[in-house]
Amino acid sequence: MTPPEVRVLLVEDNPSDALLVRAFFERAESEFTAASEAATLAEAIAALRSHEFDLVLLDVGLPDARDLEALEAVCSEAPEIPIVVITIKEDEALGRLAVEKGAQDYLSKTRISPEVLFRSLRYALDRQRRKAVEEALWRAQKMDAVGHLAGGVAHEFNNLLLAIKASAELVRMDLPSDDPMREDLAEIERATDRAARLTRQLLAFGRKQPQQPEVLDLNEVILGMDALLRPAIGEGIEVVTRLEPELGRVRADRGSIEQVVMNLALNARDAMPDGGILTISTRNASSHGPAGDLPDGAVELAVTDTGTGMDQETLGRVFEPFFTTKPQGRGTGLGLSAVHGIVQQSGGDIAVKSTLGEGATFAVRLRRVEDEPEEPRKSGPPTAGSGTILLVDDEEVVRNVAARMLRRSGYEVMETGSAAEAIAVADEFPSTIHLLLTDVVMPGGSGPELADELRASRPDMKVVFMSGYTREHLPIDRVEGSSAVLLEKPFAGADLLRTVEDVLTE
Ligand SMILES: Nc1ncnc2c1ncn2[C@@H]1O[C@H](COP(=O)(O)OP(=O)(O)O)[C@@H](O)[C@H]1O
Ligand SMILES: [Mg+2]
Repeated sequence: MTPPEVRVLLVEDNPSDALLVRAFFERAESEFTAASEAATLAEAIAALRSHEFDLVLLDVGLPDARDLEALEAVCSEAPEIPIVVITIKEDEALGRLAVEKGAQDYLSKTRISPEVLFRSLRYALDRQRRKAVEEALWRAQKMDAVGHLAGGVAHEFNNLLLAIKASAELVRMDLPSDDPMREDLAEIERATDRAARLTRQLLAFGRKQPQQPEVLDLNEVILGMDALLRPAIGEGIEVVTRLEPELGRVRADRGSIEQVVMNLALNARDAMPDGGILTISTRNASSHGPAGDLPDGAVELAVTDTGTGMDQETLGRVFEPFFTTKPQGRGTGLGLSAVHGIVQQSGGDIAVKSTLGEGATFAVRLRRVEDEPEEPRKSGPPTAGSGTILLVDDEEVVRNVAARMLRRSGYEVMETGSAAEAIAVADEFPSTIHLLLTDVVMPGGSGPELADELRASRPDMKVVFMSGYTREHLPIDRVEGSSAVLLEKPFAGADLLRTVEDVLTE
């Protein structure tokens, strides 16, 4: 980092005294730029109104202010800026009075020594540091608040999108293959997908995205994305992968990590409108990489581009939600906010390095784990099913579309809107219920509680939970004897059918 720049306002009417102070500042050049000067109180006030300062050196004997009038005026004009008063000769009493009235310190004209001036500068530096800390805190709080808000809204949206998408899907399935309305329905589905991607970013940023952490080989995730990445990046940009052969494993949600890589890659693309090189690299702690050293026990995934790079101001704001430098319609300002949310949710962190005009590197660091990746779950196409499903969701739209989807595929479906209702229906039902498909968070009794209760008398009943909330926030792992299956909202009809099929044929 460059040393902080201390901006000093010197208010002094005596040219030779001013010269002394100025000479000192010039020698200590590395700490700050040249001081601004004012010879009267009026000039000082005008300067304070038009520029920012970190320190005021104030002579108390000004032509347009008597005694401590100038101090009072400066104090009320800029109450948060430290003021060091310059007194005449050895007037200790006046100096102390000035400190009582709000000055940070005083120095006397016969002793304008470097030490005293350095001390003055320290006041300014302390203030800058305090301001930086306050600003960082404020930013973190803002991120948190907006994250909560965004996550909450996105959750509601998910349910609605689910209903829209599934309804369009259902209508389309009923139409003959040459019906012209199919095109319009496909358009609705495409728009819903786009909206779902947006809510996905919002959920990720709000750390409310459902996570199914598994042991991952990041190299394998990156290579698996090739077919997705190339067309998204487009021509004119060379995509290079530099993957560490013996890369450590991490535990994270595969879909979320793909979202991270995609967001970083798209930003890299946008930063290289005239082409360039996009490098995706991985490494273990101990090896040296593009973003400096890596702490022990970490695995890094870095995305580097040779694009426009960023200035300091942009660099400081990139993770802010809705911060974008792209024209309207091009940027949402949510990409890096989502990346940030995901990385935090995965217990990692992210570092950025960039020089204006020379490109940028975003490096995600995750904790290394010693386990081996599990076998990927097989997922064939959904097939026609049979069996009885008890469906519980307090959201009517979700319940309706899910029920229609399942019935169409051949399942018997009993629909209920609450845990109590579900228990009543089950009590009345004499034969087997193969599957309980339930929302997790519902007023009047949660999905897991309902599952516990029903399984007491129906131990073979399978359970699938549906939720837009994160797995960690859900009390579903305690459901006895079941490795609870979680279906993330919004799900497409095909996801629902595949999950139900998988669970029933397990
Ligand atoms: N690789 C990069 N090179 C230069 N600037 C970047 C890069 N990645 C992100 N930025 C800056 O960060 C901003 C925020 O990025 P992001 O959150 O993904 O939102 P968006 O891409 O929608 O603008 C971008 O508008 C851009 O100014
Ligand atoms: Mg982006």
